[in-house]
Amino acid sequence: SSRIMLGPLVAAIDQGTSSTRFLVFNAKTAELLSHHQVEIQQSFPKEGWVEEDPKEILQSVYECMDRTCEKLTQLNIDISNIKAIGVTNQRETTIVWDKETGEPFYNAIVWLDLRTQSTVERLINRTPGRNKNHLKHKTGLPISTYFSAVKLRWLMDNVEEVRRAILSHRALFGTVDSWLIWCLTGGEKSGVHCTDVTNASRTMLFNIHSLDWDPDLCKYFDIPMEILPKVRSSSEIYGLMKSGALTGIPISGVNYISPDFTQILLWSAALVGQMCFQDGQAKNTYGTGCFLLRNTGPKPVMSDHGLLTTVAYKLGRDKPACYALEGSVAIAGAVVRWLKDNLGIIQTSTELEKLAAGVGTSYGCYFVPAFSGLYAPYWEPSARGIICGLTQFTNKSHLAFAALEAVCFQTREILDAMNQDSGIPLSQLQVDGGMTSNKLLMQLQADILCIPVVKPSMPETTALGAAMAAGAAEGVSVWSLSPEDLSEVTSEKFEPQINPEESEFRYARWKKAVQRAMNWET
Ligand code: G3P
Repeated sequence: SSRIMLGPLVAAIDQGTSSTRFLVFNAKTAELLSHHQVEIQQSFPKEGWVEEDPKEILQSVYECMDRTCEKLTQLNIDISNIKAIGVTNQRETTIVWDKETGEPFYNAIVWLDLRTQSTVERLINRTPGRNKNHLKHKTGLPISTYFSAVKLRWLMDNVEEVRRAILSHRALFGTVDSWLIWCLTGGEKSGVHCTDVTNASRTMLFNIHSLDWDPDLCKYFDIPMEILPKVRSSSEIYGLMKSGALTGIPISGVNYISPDFTQILLWSAALVGQMCFQDGQAKNTYGTGCFLLRNTGPKPVMSDHGLLTTVAYKLGRDKPACYALEGSVAIAGAVVRWLKDNLGIIQTSTELEKLAAGVGTSYGCYFVPAFSGLYAPYWEPSARGIICGLTQFTNKSHLAFAALEAVCFQTREILDAMNQDSGIPLSQLQVDGGMTSNKLLMQLQADILCIPVVKPSMPETTALGAAMAAGAAEGVSVWSLSPEDLSEVTSEKFEPQINPEESEFRYARWKKAVQRAMNWET
């Protein structure tokens, strides 16, 4: 049968906390042509610990690639049109492996993991004035269990093999992007050990001004710099695929932050950095957690309200970096998995929406899912989850509703912090990620923010951003999106439907519940 002629295609590996996906886009229209998804096992060996198997993560990538290629072939689309592969990944998750055998020395310590809580408390207690923001001028980050340096420190202190491998110069450290790129480009034979500025900026070892590893931070955490990957931009050829159906294709983009479509256009026009201050450039990704980012342009802006300063992208070796303020919420989609796996009140995530929509209220029940402490804007590792306001009347539908509302309230706290930091209130919120298919959640989000929530009809903007960064790399340059193509991009808008007083009342109750979650032991 005849092959469909589509022109160049670009692909993205989306290695998230809960699942891995591989997605292939048409580089001319940004249309998603095919994808495949595989769930990732998580283990919780002790209270607060969260681990994943790096080998399983890698296998899931190969499986997703193979299955997507099969699907494309069935659609008569020639996979040799795939010109570049980008990576978007769970950040901060920490892996140390043996460069001679390719074997990880320990499971991946997932970003959500709390095992370093006492280390973090000790570090903060040692700073002048017990200041969790002691390293922020360099890193943009508070000292927290969230970031890689403390996880790496834990591995060095607790895993004998890691210690020995460092002494014998066999150890490599990486976040998931580094691990995957090293393996995919040939591992122990020819693996490229690198990371991009966006992932590096989440380690607590990276200087966000000089855009390189910081020797003083490495000394502070006592981490040898030779185990760190080389830091590259978010759009350049890192290496070529060494095996599988896509052998020979460059891996040429790593980026976490999904741009909106205007930015995509600007990327392709190489005008990056010019749009950044415009209002409306904020986006919330609903994944395992929730990550709300607002671009601040070519200079890092420090938050006075508990947000992180992070690198948003750097689209080429000689291009300037663009920075963002980020509010990270640890538990969003993860609360759905918890209701399913731990409480068993739903069998699938789609059931949650039905259950909650059936009652349309939490009936005064508030659920703060502080399973990994609280992230932005509080950064309180000792907070723990609570459910309060229960009566005889409360049932699982109310709890389901309260869980969805929790995602929205947490986002509202971040948005408030962003507005306070910038002085310019956001007029609408762009959204993407798995949970955005939940219409009830999107409506609730608009109600609780009191501004419209805008969801693009192609919700895979994060993966598209990584694929674009890959396709725009020097030596690849296949991206050919034009303004006419973009005008066809449609989106769905959720307008607030409840009155602001009602919204404020519920939000005030939520804040009380948060105070209880922070101080539940005292
Ligand atoms: O910082 C953690 C974040 O990168 C996780 O992403 O997509 O797994 O929720 P996701």
